[in-house]
Parts: sequence; structure tokens; C-alpha cells
Amino acid sequence: MKRYNRIFILTGAGISAESGLATFRSANGLWNNHKVEDVASIEGFERNPALVHDFYNNLKAEVQNVSPNAAHLAITTLQEKYPAEINVITQNVDTLHEKAGNKNVYHIHGQINQAVCLNCAQVLETWGDVDTETVCPHCQVMGMMKPNIVFFGENLLCMDTVERLLRQCDLFVSIGTSGVVYPAAGFVQSAKYYGADTIEFTLEPTANNYLFDKHIYGKAGETFPQFVEELLAAL
Ligand code: OAD
Repeated sequence: MKRYNRIFILTGAGISAESGLATFRSANGLWNNHKVEDVASIEGFERNPALVHDFYNNLKAEVQNVSPNAAHLAITTLQEKYPAEINVITQNVDTLHEKAGNKNVYHIHGQINQAVCLNCAQVLETWGDVDTETVCPHCQVMGMMKPNIVFFGENLLCMDTVERLLRQCDLFVSIGTSGVVYPAAGFVQSAKYYGADTIEFTLEPTANNYLFDKHIYGKAGETFPQFVEELLAAL
């Protein structure tokens, strides 16, 4: 096992599966009984904002009742014990990385505990419900709040930082993402182009698996802590 100086960890829904949160593309193609397009697209939000708010309010309540699992906690251990710059770039809107004590977490697809006002662009942080009658605390306009979730057709957050980290990393780790949603699915290609080793932790082969040097199949809560132990043992 090599010594690494800059580790880029990309996470997806699979890392939260063992905490009890549903992934997006499980066998029936539904996410908590909804089509992803209905609850994660601008068109879906414009069509039926009440349904979209309701969906994320329910997810928010669900997220508050779940705990980080061994994979999230292993990232904390790695960040505490391994002498490298370790950044976590997550597609997950849950906040389990933060709950586990992970540092340097970038939410490229937004966060469940935030809403953004479409009138003044201010972000409201709240674990309470947000709906079509919520008044923006900044501009006082009612009915313009949108869950701060990056929907299909919107730009990802923190991309300047992400692009810099992709250029700099010498190890790219992907945990629990199917590799079908771009641009995140293309991150591994950039990291590899700039010279990083690439490794993925997943249950089954992913759409972009040919870009990874190594594949570790199994539950991330078991496989990733084992990998962290190996990295630490090689110090
Ligand atoms: P997916 O549901 O597409 O993929 C989950 C991946 O995790 C699959 O490859 C599974 O094999 C793997 N997996 C499941 N359980 C696992 C476990 N216990 N251990 C390891 N791997 C496991 O979820 P994402 O790739 O995260 O966007 O989806 C990407 C984006 O699509 C999401 O961020 C979301 C959605 O549209 C937004 O919400 C903006």
C-alpha cells in the first residue's frame, strides 16, 4: 500500500444505505416510492411544488432519525489518524458525514436541512418543514422557497473547489455511487488523468467501473473500514 498525500473521497447513496436510507436506483427504480424525475428535477418542482416540498420534508424527518454507520465513521478515523489532506465530496443530501464528525465535507448536490429563496437567493438553514407558504426570512416574500437540492438541469455546488481537489489528489476513492449521474460520474476520469490511483467501493459493478484501478465489492460499512485499517497499517 502506497503513502498518499491528498485523498479525494466521493460518496453516493450507497454509503448511507446501511444507516437505513434508500438509494436512488434500487431494483424498482423508485426513490422512496417516487420517480426521481418527479422529485429531483426543476420541471417536477414547477409542476407540483407542494409534492416536492412534502417529499423533502418527509426525507428531512427520516434523516434526523438515522445515524452514521461504520463507513462514515471510518472516514473520521482516517481524517484523524492519516497524515494527508482528506476531502469528502458527497452527492448525498443527508448530513451523516457531519454527524459522524467528518471534516472538509462538500455537498455538491445540496443539503436536506437547507432551502434557497428563488427571489433573493439567500439560503435558509432549517430542520423544520418548508412549504409553498413559507416566508423567506431575508426578503419576506412568500412561496419562493425551494429545497436546496441540486435538481437535474441545475449546476453543482462547490465546483471550483472540486476541480482543484481533483487536480491535486493522488488517491481517488468512490463509495456507494452508481456512476450514472454526471458530472460527478466523470470525476474519476479527471482524477485519473491527473495521475491519481482510483478505487471504488460498491455492491455491484458501476456504470463507469472501467475507470477504476481497483474495485472492492461488498457493503461499504464492512469493506471501507478494512481499507482504512490497511492504509493506517502501511504508515
Ligand atoms: P444510486 O442509487 O444511483 O447508486 C447507489 C450505489 O451504491 C449503487 O452502485 C449500489 O451498488 C451501491 N450500494 C448500495 N448499497 C451499498 C452498500 N451498503 N455499500 C456499498 N455500496 C452500496 O445513488 P447515487 O450514485 O448516489 O441526485 O446517485 C447519484 C445521484 O442521483 C444522487 O445524488 C441524486 C440522484 O439523482 C440528487 O439528489 C441531486
